[in-house]
Amino acid sequence: MKILVLNGSPKRENSDTMHITRAFLDGMKEAAPQDIHIVNIIDRHIEFCTGCFTCKRNGGECIHDDDMKALLSEVMESDLLLLSFPLYAYGMPAPLKAFIDRTMPLSSMAMKKQGDRYVHVGQADFSHLRYMMICGCGFPNSKQNFEPAAAQFRLMFPDRHTIITVPENPMFNAHEATEVTTPRLALVRQAGKQYAVTGGIEDDLLAEICSPMIPEEMYAEICNRKM
Ligand SMILES: Cc1cc2nc3c(=O)[nH]c(=O)nc-3n(C[C@H](O)[C@H](O)[C@H](O)COP(=O)(O)O)c2cc1C
Repeated sequence: MKILVLNGSPKRENSDTMHITRAFLDGMKEAAPQDIHIVNIIDRHIEFCTGCFTCKRNGGECIHDDDMKALLSEVMESDLLLLSFPLYAYGMPAPLKAFIDRTMPLSSMAMKKQGDRYVHVGQADFSHLRYMMICGCGFPNSKQNFEPAAAQFRLMFPDRHTIITVPENPMFNAHEATEVTTPRLALVRQAGKQYAVTGGIEDDLLAEICSPMIPEEMYAEICNRKM
């Protein structure tokens, strides 16, 4: 499978979240060989969308001449688009959002009704693409934290999507936490293998991966102690 990973963490390979993403990809590789390309979004030249809509009236041609053209081609050639990012202000970090805004050329100006909402008509066939969001956050709570990012992802990619959200994410970069992060990463690898074989992750396994690794009060106490 051709997998395009967009790493939205400005910390590049030192990203807490990338520990989860790498474990997931390792699991996928256990099931079958995978063609994986990881892009650190922070290192790409991506101008902000100006909102001119030229791309939607101009056969997909954006006014900016930057790295987006190559990235959009790569998205279209992929089987799986995997967004790996830390939760920032209940959403995605700005450089990754800049990328998302610049996907405008992939759809036309025309609108169509889909269920009870309207979407732009695609300028290409996306039916081969699957979408995955792997997002880690700093707080121990998932509720009242991940919902906006997960809802945005579902609205952007309503079909064939999988969402993994992991609280207490900085623990993946803490050596003293390996006792709890190692078994959690083993579960993530299991999920990756399952996803490669079946195209999904069993509900119970996903719920376990998305749950706190240690009780939230204990996590908060440890974090506060380090201040
Ligand atoms: C600008 C900024 C905003 C953040 N917003 C949130 C937030 O809304 N909720 C949360 O739980 N953690 C938040 N965090 C914490 C990060 O999600 C957390 O540190 C994460 O593990 C960083 O992952 P990374 O190493 O992959 O970049 C924020 C961190 C930064 C720097």
